[in-house]
Amino acid sequence: MTARMNALTRVSGLLYGGDWNPEQWPEEVWAEDVKLMAEAGVNLVTVGVFSWARLQPAADVWDFGWLDRLLDLVHGHGIAVDLATATASPPAWLVRAHPELLPVTADGVRLEFGSRQHYCPSSAVYRAAAARLTRALAERYRDHPALALWHIHNEYGDHVQECFCPASAADFRRWLRERHGTVEELNRSWGTAFWSQRYGSFDEIEPPRTAPGPVNPTQLLDWRRFCSDALLALHRTEKAVLDEVSPGVPVTTNFMSMLKSLDYWEWSRHEDLVSDDAYPDPADPRAHVNAAMNYDLMRSLKGGKPWLLMEQAPSAVSWRPVNLPKRPGLYRLWSLQALARGADGILHFQWRASVAGAEKFHSAMLPHRGTASRGWRETVRFGADLRRLGELAGTRMRGQAAVLLDWDSWWALELDDHPSARMRWPDLLRPWYAALHDRGVTVDFVPPTGAFDGYRLLLAPNLYLLDTATADRLTAFVTAGGHLVCGPFSGISDRHDHIHPGGHPGPLRPLFGVVVDEHWPIPDGAATAVRLDQGGAELRAEHWSEWIDTEGAETVARYASGELAGLPAVTRHRHGTGSAWYLGCHLGADVGRVLDLPLAEAGVAAEVADLPTGVEATRRRAEDGTGYLFLLNHGSAACRVTLGEPGTDLLTGTDVAEGVTLAPLGAAVVRVRPVPRTSASPSPSTPAEERA
Ligand code: GLA
Repeated sequence: MTARMNALTRVSGLLYGGDWNPEQWPEEVWAEDVKLMAEAGVNLVTVGVFSWARLQPAADVWDFGWLDRLLDLVHGHGIAVDLATATASPPAWLVRAHPELLPVTADGVRLEFGSRQHYCPSSAVYRAAAARLTRALAERYRDHPALALWHIHNEYGDHVQECFCPASAADFRRWLRERHGTVEELNRSWGTAFWSQRYGSFDEIEPPRTAPGPVNPTQLLDWRRFCSDALLALHRTEKAVLDEVSPGVPVTTNFMSMLKSLDYWEWSRHEDLVSDDAYPDPADPRAHVNAAMNYDLMRSLKGGKPWLLMEQAPSAVSWRPVNLPKRPGLYRLWSLQALARGADGILHFQWRASVAGAEKFHSAMLPHRGTASRGWRETVRFGADLRRLGELAGTRMRGQAAVLLDWDSWWALELDDHPSARMRWPDLLRPWYAALHDRGVTVDFVPPTGAFDGYRLLLAPNLYLLDTATADRLTAFVTAGGHLVCGPFSGISDRHDHIHPGGHPGPLRPLFGVVVDEHWPIPDGAATAVRLDQGGAELRAEHWSEWIDTEGAETVARYASGELAGLPAVTRHRHGTGSAWYLGCHLGADVGRVLDLPLAEAGVAAEVADLPTGVEATRRRAEDGTGYLFLLNHGSAACRVTLGEPGTDLLTGTDVAEGVTLAPLGAAVVRVRPVPRTSASPSPSTPAEERA
């Protein structure tokens, strides 16, 4: 089979390359760079991410000559360009002319020039300057044959997620006016009758700067919403310029995996393709599980469309306290993992290692030692792997179950003055995800507004904030035969973060057939025993438990120690033709023992049965039904995976009959004949895509 065109950028096959910062090097070095890129199979480079000061050395002085020469050079070598709008680091002359564009912390400290991302998201000066630069670049390069993709800014929200300066305060008031209409409505929504916080007009409102005591939670929640929107407004300004001046060239900005500060459901509506920067820690033996979770989110943001791994480290990063390199084979395995979960390209930070600046110890595709280095050998080897996998471009991976993710709820859950500060979204989600991953079950993420009905099983590790519309949709899902599993401290508050009256889980009480009488957080270091009614297995709850009374639900597990001994800890309620499971406690690593029950009831099984421990298996599918089975051995021992279907391992070109043997950190990508869909497979069109 030949390489398919890559729908992301119209470059053939899978994409390979990285950030290239040629402005850090004399032009003689560029010639060597492109020669080595060709040798490694690089077909896409990201250029210009931090080039503002070079492109526009003064307010009305432009210098595009070097970029003209660079683009011509790479094009001459058959390499395409992901051209950055260069707006992530405003130059010194702009900052000195307009020091008010620097961001201010909640304590009133103005952050200085000398790093990057030193701008206030609501600064009109910064926004106009960024739009001007974007327009200049778009007008100059829109027809350049090397241009394959526009790269807006860089990692919005990396260093600066919020600003408390007067311009931000004014923008916040504008945003509040739009959201609430009248100050009376804002007073109601913020519950300002509490602690005499009533406002007489919008002009009296400030951002939630450092205050003597706890700040109004709805003010904080609205602030989070506003901050995500303020950065998005910047992004949309640049996107509008590109859409106008350079239509038809796809546009992306690099996301930062599951980032709390930006509502990526909303952001991804403004992306032509989703791209992500991922830096799993080689020191963490379970880093691949978290990486899988982030990749599943990236794939899900555009309803399963291929996405791009825009940045990863070829080996060590330079920003952890201790930065371990990737041991031989790990870089290749982790790169294949992104492909296994739907990526159509693997790019890096960065192409050539810097010799100066804050990132001079960060690994690169071309390390300081040059082509004699181990890193370079891995770069060349993986480039060759990608060429063998070219036919994967455009194929899709789909999860067998869905996980509900709602940024609003995440933000509200983690506000202060709750029964326990230990209830944090990533800590609640990760054990659930890990349990599914360990069982070989793949998942997509869905937003609360998504259509869940393509799935048989929907998992909600937490739904602290829940409006009645979502509750109705969840109820309809179960009524129609879906299986819903919900974690503790859910159905607590409405979209203003006001408690649903009448007992938790609020509007979901009838669906789950339970009411929570009181929250019983578990002290740090302590645990409460939970026993499954069937089989009697004993599990460990930590950090959180709830006093639950059933209202029609059956008890699946109950507390076996502590104050709540004998009371229900896990329940199941038949509703319509489906079932609704409620977990009233945080089961940490033991949660899989409970999830096994709804998995079985929903008929959701592993992609490949009887996987050896540490082996990850996913399947991508082409439109013609051809399947691509990824088998990745994250373990340190060789193992054998038995396959029910014959095929060809694309990495080695060998035929595979009954199974494959995987070396430690080894992998296979097996092309298999079209297989009929199983009943547990979701329908071809997934929720977020319909939504988008
Ligand atoms: C981020 C940034 C890059 C670089 C890398 C280093 O992903 O986008 O510019 O700083 O981190 O890991």
